[in-house]
Amino acid sequence: MSRALIPGSFDPITVGHVDIIKRAAALYDEVVVAVMINDQKTYAFDMEERAEMVRLAVAELPRVRVVADDGLLVDLFDRVGADVIVKGVRNEADRAYEEQMASWNHTHNPRALTVLLQAADDFESVNSTRARELLREGKSVDGLLPPAVAAYAARKFRTEGQNEGL
Ligand code: PNS
Repeated sequence: MSRALIPGSFDPITVGHVDIIKRAAALYDEVVVAVMINDQKTYAFDMEERAEMVRLAVAELPRVRVVADDGLLVDLFDRVGADVIVKGVRNEADRAYEEQMASWNHTHNPRALTVLLQAADDFESVNSTRARELLREGKSVDGLLPPAVAAYAARKFRTEGQNEGL
C-alpha cells in the first residue's frame, strides 16, 4: 500500500491541481489531498471553503480523500501515514521554490521525501491567482477551475465580494 500526500493552499483548487492529483492517483494506491496554510499568503477563501472546493473537485475520483490541517506538513506526513509528498511544478520558478520546501521538510522529517511532477503544457498558465482576478471581475473561469468549484467560488464572490472587498 502506497500513500501520497499532496499539500497545498488551493485558494481555489484549479484544473492544474486536479491533473496532478489524478496522475498521483495513477502512481500510488491512495492520495490524501491536504488543504494547509502557507504563512506567506493571505487567503481569499478560508480553510473550510478551500477544503470544500477540493472535495467538490475530487468527488468522482476513487482512492482520493481530503483533509484540512493548520499544522506543519512534516507532522501531518506521519499522522496520515504517508509514504511520499507529491507536488506539481509548472516552470523553473516553481521547481526552485518546491525544491527549497522539499529540502526543509526532509531536514525536519527524514521520512518525508518529495516527488515533483511536471505539469502538462496545457496547464502552464493555469493558476489560482488568475482565477481570483477573474472572479473579482465577475468574469468566467471556464478552463481554469473545475465547473463545481467555479460555481462555488463565484457564489462566494457574489455574496460576500462587494461587502468585504475581496
Ligand atoms: O499551494 P502552496 O501555497 O504552494 O502550498 C504551500 C503549503 C501550504 C504546502 C506549505 O506552505 C506548507 O507545507 N504549509 C504547512 C505548514 C508548514 O509545514 N510550513 C513549513 C513548510 S516550508
